[in-house]
Amino acid sequence: MQYDRARFQAWEAEALAVLVPYKDITQVQSLDLPAPVLFYDGHGVLPANPDSVEFWAMPHPPPRASLSALREARNLKVLQLTSSGFDHVLPFLHSNVTLCNAPGLRAEATAEAGMCLILASLNDVATWVIQKQQRLWNWPAPREGIAGKRVLLIGFGAIGQALSRMLSGFGTEIIPLARRPRSGVAGSDELPGLIPEADIVVLAVPLTSATRHLIDAEKLSLMKAESLIVNISRGEVLDTDALVEELRRGRIRAALDVTDPEPLPEDHPLWGFPNALISPHIGGHIKDFEEKASRFIVQQLRRYYSGERLECVVETGT
Ligand SMILES: NC(=O)c1ccc[n+]([C@@H]2O[C@H](COP(=O)([O-])OP(=O)(O)OC[C@H]3O[C@@H](n4cnc5c(N)ncnc54)[C@H](OP(=O)(O)O)[C@@H]3O)[C@@H](O)[C@H]2O)c1
Repeated sequence: MQYDRARFQAWEAEALAVLVPYKDITQVQSLDLPAPVLFYDGHGVLPANPDSVEFWAMPHPPPRASLSALREARNLKVLQLTSSGFDHVLPFLHSNVTLCNAPGLRAEATAEAGMCLILASLNDVATWVIQKQQRLWNWPAPREGIAGKRVLLIGFGAIGQALSRMLSGFGTEIIPLARRPRSGVAGSDELPGLIPEADIVVLAVPLTSATRHLIDAEKLSLMKAESLIVNISRGEVLDTDALVEELRRGRIRAALDVTDPEPLPEDHPLWGFPNALISPHIGGHIKDFEEKASRFIVQQLRRYYSGERLECVVETGT
């Protein structure tokens, strides 16, 4: 990994560094940290030797180069992500690093994207768009309302709960499901029994060894005819080959913000199905994001350097 030696040498004698992903995190100055704060958005030359970094706040999605540099960051104590998902950094992380994610930052935006996908699929918005391009005033098939639909929310964390609040305003019946069962929330063991009950199944779980292909051919076959599966989590949570088979039969519909693989290759069969709506992983891609993320990173830095407990710890370094 290359790094900017001249800049590094200027503060070599100082404490280990902090890397921040946005140039205008001005609030960081007011913290008066006992460490040099360097800007690195994951592109170009790393402004420090990876060994000299103690706290790394990483943008999302991180370019491959910054992931490889993680392997060389042997003095790293904290990796702060700006995403909720963390599966992509695990293979590059030393066991002594405390990993923090940021589930609150993109939850509303991702839930809203899920809401868009659901409404657009039920209303067949794709036909309106195609007809507008063709300047055609044709009456499509009657619209399918969302009121009264039963929605199975698989994953009831930040995104699942935000989506639940939005859906409840539309008169839907919501069935939340999470890893651990609790009052009003079903546990993952109940999944096979709940799938056939749902008109809409939404995936909002992290990608882990337990959720990879959580929805496979068998679970897809349990879905009601004409029901809709919505994936706003990670592509690999849904078995793509099994989904392609099910869509080919025309029995169910899909709305996908995430796919496996990503980006979806031009010749992939998923593009061709009229019963599948696809958005290019835009769930958390929202305008005011950097400002919100900056405030969170600054608070995490303040906590870390004043010895307070960090928030959103996914894995504690050993
Ligand atoms: N499309 C996008 O642009 C986008 C944007 C942001 C995030 N995401 C993805 O969405 C995922 C979820 O985000 P979040 O912020 O809602 O995460 P979160 O707050 O950590 O919530 C995750 C939920 O999933 C549940 N869960 C975990 N493993 C499960 C299993 N095996 N079976 C059933 N439920 C399980 C958890 O159960 P417990 O409550 O019992 O722990 C929790 O309710 C992220 O990890 C990320 O991959 C996508």
